[in-house]
Amino acid sequence: MKLVAEAFAKVNRSLLVLGRRSDGYHELDTVFQAVGLTDRLTFEESDSLTLEVDDPSVPSGPENLVLRATRALAEEAGVKPRAAITLEKRIPSGGGLGGGSSDAAVTLLGLSALWELELPLERLARIGASLGSDVPFFLWGGTARGRGRGERIEPLADLPPRGVVLVMPPFPVATPDVFRRLSAPPWDGNEGPERENGPVPDRNDLEFAAESLFPALRVVRQALGATGAEQARLSGSGSTVFGVFPDPGSAAEAARRLEGLPVGSAVRVVPTLTREESRVRSGPRRAE
Ligand code: C5P
Repeated sequence: MKLVAEAFAKVNRSLLVLGRRSDGYHELDTVFQAVGLTDRLTFEESDSLTLEVDDPSVPSGPENLVLRATRALAEEAGVKPRAAITLEKRIPSGGGLGGGSSDAAVTLLGLSALWELELPLERLARIGASLGSDVPFFLWGGTARGRGRGERIEPLADLPPRGVVLVMPPFPVATPDVFRRLSAPPWDGNEGPERENGPVPDRNDLEFAAESLFPALRVVRQALGATGAEQARLSGSGSTVFGVFPDPGSAAEAARRLEGLPVGSAVRVVPTLTREESRVRSGPRRAE
């Protein structure tokens, strides 16, 4: 049997850092939004475990999140980690779009199907959280609030569809560098306000730290803001800057205007994904 699935990307519509925790992580209150830029994975029965990646900048050794997810799932389910996996990268690594985390989540879903495991989503989310703070979000998709390290997911109502411009600079950003630069005060245990489906703060507390490490990011964000975006922000710790537009047409128009700028970045227009659309993409199906 051979299965195929797509790993979608995310942007953070809002990212509040509530403080530095004693375990070295930061307590967050973030709103994730799934978007239609995807990696493609295939999972095939095999006698051993292999991973083929089409992008040489992505490590294909044991540190790869797909292989870590495979081993973690096999251990949890008490089966041998056997599969031939391929990964076609379209989401840049170190881009703040959650590409590696999404690949890990889709691996948990794909191999659960290939190995015929019947693990509830909550158990997959626990395994996911042990692999990376963003992984559980990719099991839900759509629009969702992330608290704790970002791994505690509360689904929110789907936003009306929007056109999103992704400006992806040609360099990655290492998330730990940005958190270090932030030098946040210790977390006081306050989890932030309750707000169900209300407006979220148009804020990313990592932006200032990331932009002081990489000043080009501010230039890109200001250029995107000047095209009339409803929102122009850094995604996660960067390096991607995203702009939200009311519809795909105005997003495409803004993207055309950005192509003339000397930012050296790849520019893409993608739709937001509802929870249902996210699930359709990440759900494993039989390959031809
Ligand atoms: O959880 P993940 O492996 O994606 O985190 C990568 C790094 O980002 C962590 O080692 C930590 O330095 C930083 N981080 C953090 N607080 C979070 C999430 C990530 O400090 N909530």
